[in-house]
Amino acid sequence: MYRIESKINIHTPEYAANLEAYGQIMQQYRDRLNSVVNGSPAALVSRHKERGKLLARERIDRLIDPNTPFLELSVMAAYGMFDNGFPSAGIITGIGVIHGREAMIVANDATVKGGTYIAETIKKHVRAQEIAMENHLPCVYLVDSGGVFLPEQANVFPDKYDFGRFFFNQARMSAEGIPQISVVMGSCTAGGAYVPAMSDEVIIVRNQGTIFIGGPPLVKAATGEEVTAEELGGAEVHTSISGVADHLAENDSHALQICRDIFSTLRKPSKQLLEFAAIEEPFYDPSELYGIAPIDLRKPVDVHEIIARMVDGSRFHEFKAKYAPTIVTGFAHIMGMPVGILASNGVLFSETALKGAHFIELCTSRNVPILFLQNITGFIVGKEYERRGIARDGAKLVHAVANARVPKFTVVFGGSFGAGNYAMAGRAYEPRLLFMWPNSKISVMGGEQAAGVLITVKEDQLKAKGLTLADAERDEMRNSILKKYEEEGSSYYSTARLWDDGIIDPVDTRKVLAMGIAASLNKQWEETKYGIFRM
Ligand code: COA
Repeated sequence: MYRIESKINIHTPEYAANLEAYGQIMQQYRDRLNSVVNGSPAALVSRHKERGKLLARERIDRLIDPNTPFLELSVMAAYGMFDNGFPSAGIITGIGVIHGREAMIVANDATVKGGTYIAETIKKHVRAQEIAMENHLPCVYLVDSGGVFLPEQANVFPDKYDFGRFFFNQARMSAEGIPQISVVMGSCTAGGAYVPAMSDEVIIVRNQGTIFIGGPPLVKAATGEEVTAEELGGAEVHTSISGVADHLAENDSHALQICRDIFSTLRKPSKQLLEFAAIEEPFYDPSELYGIAPIDLRKPVDVHEIIARMVDGSRFHEFKAKYAPTIVTGFAHIMGMPVGILASNGVLFSETALKGAHFIELCTSRNVPILFLQNITGFIVGKEYERRGIARDGAKLVHAVANARVPKFTVVFGGSFGAGNYAMAGRAYEPRLLFMWPNSKISVMGGEQAAGVLITVKEDQLKAKGLTLADAERDEMRNSILKKYEEEGSSYYSTARLWDDGIIDPVDTRKVLAMGIAASLNKQWEETKYGIFRM
């Protein structure tokens, strides 16, 4: 495979300016990340430790194999919501390696409102299970939770993907042979009791873990019976009387060791075959992405420059290099694993969509995972293009993306707007993982365009009544729409609401994707079947 020849001169003022501006974006990202990871009140952290408990991230650290990475997902869930009172939405999820095997870990953070669940916590828990199902990853639940955050019950309890979905997913995964293991390290109350109760194997920590359908206050209110938490559903009770738990641990570390031992007994998955190449670092330094990544989204970026700083040896076997250049397609390797890349390089035209659909067919017929690199304003508009059938050709690409059953991965490195989001495997198209860079933006259209559309609609309405829009009103309308789109289009707004799996440092993209592709090998990929491509 030939090496991409970079045309970037890192000694120009433009590069330096981008580097400096991106430095500020990264500083803000690190500050925000830090405020979230250390977001629990100090007093609650101390109280937690005084109880002899490890913090949620410490537990994960002890659970996974030494010196292996943990791919934490949606670290900034619920960011900017509830006065930032739910850092990481009170739950840590991610992929880690336990006894040589990739697993999905779901850990409640009891220092965040007793580990209780708001809507974003639920979404994060369910999303982790979805990733586990797609990739056949055993699930470990490190349970320490007061269940539903009661003031928010209407947003977390009744709907299809609310609290009840956890147990439905556990039952379905267990049936599919995806191990479900709970380590009860604190409270499991009410519905929460079903996390261990629905697991294949359960560990509980002495004088610390409790499992009950109704806690002591509820029992007293309902029946008048006075009982301590330990008598009602402590570790001794459940391992020796009720049988709800299987293993008694003396403390957190002991419990985590038992969990690792359980992993040594699991059946090995039959892996998806993939032809690996020798791993090569990119020829061009990935940290140069800070000088190249688009900050002003109106400024075009040659996506070859991004690919060159992400793939092995900066090598890229480009497909149709000269045809329809607003989408770049080709094969490369990431940490030795083959990947087909579709990368935005401008607006989508009919021929761009056809090229993309053709390339997806190549990837699915060769069983190669697909990486979508998104920086897309959408499909081309205008009379000429509508007459030539842009909607029909765009549909071909959307159809191919939707039906491609090889693992798909999406990274938004610039803008993700309108139907471009669909055609480039946005969330609705089920990429196995979707990440945003901190500079990226996502919305149905750009703020300027939305303001233009809404002002035109308003002017037409007024015109029909013989009225006109005053300049001051137009300005006010425009400014308020721009402000709204600026806020709601930000990657932080997206990640807070779990529209993605996290914001990542551009330099880490390669490592993160490698973990995602490696995880996808735990389940045989399904065969792709296409439907009708409109011709
Ligand atoms: N809903 C809303 N808030 C809750 C809550 C719940 N279910 N459970 C705990 N909290 C809040 C507490 O009010 C407290 O908030 P504050 O810091 O603003 O005062 C915070 O979480 C920590 O609770 P606290 O009781 O001080 O912590 P703890 O570690 O001693 O005990 C629990 C944690 C979860 C064991 C205990 O709070 C509890 O039993 N909660 C009720 C659980 C329950 O009945 N849930 C049923 C819902 S399905």
